[in-house]
Amino acid sequence: MIRIDHIGIAVRNLEESNELFRKLLGSAHYKTETVESEHVTTSFFQIGESKIELLVASDPESPIAKFIEKRGEGMHHIAFEVQDIHAEIARLEGEGFIPLNREPKRGADNKLVAFLHPKSSGGVLVELCQSV
Ligand code: CO
Repeated sequence: MIRIDHIGIAVRNLEESNELFRKLLGSAHYKTETVESEHVTTSFFQIGESKIELLVASDPESPIAKFIEKRGEGMHHIAFEVQDIHAEIARLEGEGFIPLNREPKRGADNKLVAFLHPKSSGGVLVELCQSV
């Protein structure tokens, strides 16, 4: 793991939350991106070397819609940048973590991403991401 790339936060209304986080962080989001495969729209704020990713469901089947239904708005995942995502998935699986996808997929921000099941990682949904 190289560094914390971003922290993902599930929100109900992207416009309202963009405004809230602009006030909190003192700078506006620098991009918005829809990831069709994940049924989410995201917006990104830069904080030094890391980012905040706001996630809103783009349809009712979205994992974000289900998350908010169960737990409300709030922290959703923590994302670590890795150099070699395939090697890292294999290493973590060897350590007993459960990958949600063994084959990395294309995520937001032009990254290859894979997730670890929170039940294997202390209740935290972990995202691994590699720049491509
Ligand atoms: Co993310």
